[in-house]
Amino acid sequence: MENLDFEMRRCLPAELIAFLHIAGEKAGAQEQKLYLVGGAVRDLLLHRPILDLDLVVEGDAPYLARQLAKSDRMGEEKGKGEGRVTVHRQFGTAKFRRGGLNIDVITARSEIYSQPGALPTVQPGTIQDDLLRRDFSINAMAIDLSPASFGQLLDPHGGWNDLEQRRNVRILYERSFIDDATRILRAIRYEKRLGLTLEKNTERLLREHISMLDTISGDRIRHELELILKEDIPEQILERAEVLGVLQQLHPSLRGNGWVAERFRKARQKAIADSALYLLLLTCHFSEADIEHLIARLKIVGELGRNMRQVPRLTEVLPSLDDNALPPSGIYRLLKRYHPKTIAACSLASNSAIIRSNLERYLNHICYVKPLMDGEDLINMGVKPGPRLGSMLETLREARLNGQVITKEDEEALVRQLMRNH
Ligand code: CTP
Repeated sequence: MENLDFEMRRCLPAELIAFLHIAGEKAGAQEQKLYLVGGAVRDLLLHRPILDLDLVVEGDAPYLARQLAKSDRMGEEKGKGEGRVTVHRQFGTAKFRRGGLNIDVITARSEIYSQPGALPTVQPGTIQDDLLRRDFSINAMAIDLSPASFGQLLDPHGGWNDLEQRRNVRILYERSFIDDATRILRAIRYEKRLGLTLEKNTERLLREHISMLDTISGDRIRHELELILKEDIPEQILERAEVLGVLQQLHPSLRGNGWVAERFRKARQKAIADSALYLLLLTCHFSEADIEHLIARLKIVGELGRNMRQVPRLTEVLPSLDDNALPPSGIYRLLKRYHPKTIAACSLASNSAIIRSNLERYLNHICYVKPLMDGEDLINMGVKPGPRLGSMLETLREARLNGQVITKEDEEALVRQLMRNH
């Protein structure tokens, strides 16, 4: 068995290692064994930064988490949500933040899937059970944190070999994708992020069980899609997902082709890329019916859903923006109803340089222009509160956009004229 004490010292801050020693000792004092598992072990072996810690205890996770958070000086000093423990008794899990890291403590368990895609029934188990229930060999390694064997690697499924030698993403058992089809999306995310390849049998089973994605709830699919869109180069994952038929299973109109890749790259160059903008780009050629279908499938709510629905409407307006001679007020009038993110997505998607330039003018300048006078100023001049006051403010804004008013006196003169004309 390998000891990773050296790797840990090389890759983790001394203070964090001290914390892991203390954690192992505290568990040991309860005659329980504690392990670091999952992504942190994988990333440690790859010398990649570690963002979260998953700890598995063969014992009572909520109890241990509380003890750790309580005794941890760092947690107390940092304040602001640090050291506060959130417990899920039902799942035997607890989490807290420490030194900027999310720490999850879970009770070692085995899982039984009664139905594909449903959450499993869990029962306490050993670390071996806990590693066996995991998605891929590269995520099914553990480091022992017990005082007597601190740093020992547990790798019952050959994860290290898959990481270093064969560079494989490999599931642990035949029914893995049936039990939890989110693993289909996770597999290609790890493949591209870590420069690995789906192991042959894993790829065969993934292709065979793609329809199992239909067993996964909208919330879980959306979460996995967001994780993909938060990767450094998501278009690589989407391309692979299209080749494997995964994207089409989520929605027949989704594409991960070169057009998408080019737009994603442009969004990053302009430093406006985020998962919401990427999703708008992925759906900007969708019909309204397609959009509704995807929103329902992924249970999208709030601003993102509103922006997705705006895209087909804005697409219909775009031909009117294909005009070099449009005054700023004209551009404003056409675009004022649309969210800047929707406009940014349509700009990236458009093939017309004139349309793009008008959309960019709006985003960079026009949308910020406001009259110097506000509603109160107009009321002080004798305008009655109501819709007419709103429309006067809009007239002032458009006059300013077109350079027809400069000073406050210009605006006051225009208001007086509007009042006379009424
Ligand atoms: N896991 C799993 N099946 C899933 C989700 C998670 O087996 N559908 C296990 C894996 O062992 C994984 C661990 O739970 O390593 C933690 O999950 P998560 O935080 O999603 O992944 P990380 O490994 O931390 O990787 P990432 O860097 O992508 O966050």
